[in-house]
Amino acid sequence: MPAIALVVIDSLLKVAGGIAIGWFIRDASNRGGGKSAGGSSSSSSPNNKIGQTASRRAGAAAAAISKPTPVPRPKEELKMVLCVNMSLKMGTGKVGAQCAHAAVGVLWAHYQSHNVPIRQWEMYGQPKIALKVGDEAEMAELEAKAMSLGMPTYIVHDAGRTQIAAGSQTVLAIGPAPKSQLDTVTGHLKLL
Ligand SMILES: *[C@@H]1O[C@H](CO)[C@@H](O)[C@H](O)[C@H]1NC(C)=O
Repeated sequence: MPAIALVVIDSLLKVAGGIAIGWFIRDASNRGGGKSAGGSSSSSSPNNKIGQTASRRAGAAAAAISKPTPVPRPKEELKMVLCVNMSLKMGTGKVGAQCAHAAVGVLWAHYQSHNVPIRQWEMYGQPKIALKVGDEAEMAELEAKAMSLGMPTYIVHDAGRTQIAAGSQTVLAIGPAPKSQLDTVTGHLKLL
């Protein structure tokens, strides 16, 4: 991937981190202060409710990230796989961005429920593997199998502003999970 794309992804992640911490601080101050500057008129709008839920979730994740306690070395290597929908014929930059969405999404969605494996994976190199999914295997089937084994999963649905149709399933992230367990689900897929 060109260095410029990595720089763009890196700065996007930094901005996202800043927003999450901003939310966390705002959320904490709202809780203490009861009715605050937001007022009742804005809190009745549905958009604002969604914002508050997201803010609470971001706050919980930020709190968890800011207080790291040591985790033991994992018994087996933990990996994350990113299964890319090849039938969409996305450009290189688009694939990179969709993989970044998937990796960030799976961590945020499962940070509480899979806290120990996620933190072990974070500490020991964060291995990620990109795999190709053709039309012979459905992403939904891979996801269902991974979920039945208790692994974290996340499918990115593209907003469709560029290149491909809105709602397309672009990337499925599975893991962090032990390598041998992941292999039972995605071991047959080729490297991207
Ligand atoms: C790729 O995306 C399209 C559009 O969402 C979908 O119909 C197709 O099933 C996806 N392919 C895989 C392998 O999931």
